[in-house]
Amino acid sequence: MVKSTSRKTLRKTLRALRNGLSDSQQQHASFAVRDSLLTLPEITYASSVACYLPNDGEVDLRPFMHACWGLNQASERHTSLPVLHPVCKGHLLFLRYTDKTPMRVNKYNIEEPILACPDVIPTFQHQVILMPLVGFDANGNRLGMGGGYYDRTLASIQTRTIEPKLIGIAHDCQQVDKLPVQSWDIPVNAIVTPTQQLSFNRT
Ligand SMILES: Nc1ncnc2c1ncn2[C@@H]1O[C@H](COP(=O)(O)OP(=O)(O)OP(=O)(O)O)[C@@H](O)[C@H]1O
Ligand SMILES: [Mg+2]
Repeated sequence: MVKSTSRKTLRKTLRALRNGLSDSQQQHASFAVRDSLLTLPEITYASSVACYLPNDGEVDLRPFMHACWGLNQASERHTSLPVLHPVCKGHLLFLRYTDKTPMRVNKYNIEEPILACPDVIPTFQHQVILMPLVGFDANGNRLGMGGGYYDRTLASIQTRTIEPKLIGIAHDCQQVDKLPVQSWDIPVNAIVTPTQQLSFNRT
């Protein structure tokens, strides 16, 4: 397991580790995470799940999204993707995503749905938000890519009584013994990797 050091060094080390995974390791991780997610009650009962498209060696959630779309209409589960907020800089919006959604490339070279107001699913209306991360620890702390996008977006809905369950998605090699945490970092409720399901009580 990677030892704790500065956030900058950790990001560099952990990003290199996940980018070093082979295509077959990535594919295996993607199917293992799909299968693991589909066993979680939070997912079974969710009607809206925020996902992401893979970037920089992240676990690919497309097989999971396909599984969500394959459900019959009675148990329909919407999937959404993050879009850089056009007005509220540094925040995210989540837009409904299907295999027919028109896409564009954002300033980070990541594909996102083209903004269309009827497709916006408010952040607090998701039952589950699956979050990419660079590093995690056994206490549910999360280190992202450093933009603060998820931290800001989730901070803005924290006063609501019903909040989405936050599930961090990672490769096993992204685990750190203890992450250096900042006051603004929002911890997750659970972590899913190809071999682990960790859950954390947040009261
Ligand atoms: N709620 C917030 N309000 C204002 N600024 C924030 C908030 N949360 C984070 N930030 C700012 O965002 C910057 C990046 O934060 P951090 O290093 O935690 O990003 P990250 O968690 O790696 O990224 P992300 O949330 O996109 O995954 C920090 O400089 C921090 O000041
Ligand atoms: Mg953070």
